[in-house]
Amino acid sequence: MSRITGSQLTLRPVTETDLPSVARASMPWALQGESEADVLRRLRDRHRGAVPFAAVEFAIEMEGRLIGDIQARRDPYLAGLFEIGIVVFEDADKGCGVGREVLSLMTAQLFEHEGAHRVQLNTDVGNTAMRRAAEAAGFTFEGVLRGFWPPKGDEPPADYAMYAKTKRDHEDMS
Ligand SMILES: CC(C)(COP(=O)(O)OP(=O)(O)OC[C@H]1O[C@@H](n2cnc3c(N)ncnc32)[C@H](O)[C@@H]1OP(=O)(O)O)[C@@H](O)C(=O)NCCC(=O)NCCS
Repeated sequence: MSRITGSQLTLRPVTETDLPSVARASMPWALQGESEADVLRRLRDRHRGAVPFAAVEFAIEMEGRLIGDIQARRDPYLAGLFEIGIVVFEDADKGCGVGREVLSLMTAQLFEHEGAHRVQLNTDVGNTAMRRAAEAAGFTFEGVLRGFWPPKGDEPPADYAMYAKTKRDHEDMS
């Protein structure tokens, strides 16, 4: 997969050496009971093709530095439906427009080159940064998925906000 260049970011293929940083930053979304080593093993298995994982994925670089990861998982049953996940690794790189730009670059790639008809993302209702980045990138808030994320410890399942952009939205904005 080739590189995509934006105004402050470059998206490039993920390499195996990127995976420890991705695993560390993904820990808040680890499966129940998974350690960081488990998450890294899972990411390596996917990367090497040992387990099926259908996604368009890029490492995010700013000024030649790896700062995050974005993936768009293909729905296994519904062709053209994708679900996006993003992590920016360090707090110092958050809040500088990375989320907004990377969402715009990825959605353009999915609609124009990957056969997407709908791109969606969901995030904890309290994740203001992700919600505002989605809105800034032209996603529409479609409602709340109640009790969506599995319970963590004593906490109840979390409510998640659903956002989406359709191919028609993308064409109307282009
Ligand atoms: C969520 C995330 C990808 C957003 O990327 P980002 O580069 O920090 O966001 P941006 O700089 O593009 O900001 C987008 C909007 O959010 C706002 N924002 C950013 N950080 C914020 C914060 N901590 N609190 C409130 N608003 C915030 C910005 O002001 C901007 O709003 P505006 O368009 O109204 O000006 C990034 O913060 C991140 O990786 N967080 C940890 C992982 C995560 O939560 N991933 C999403 C899981 S679903």
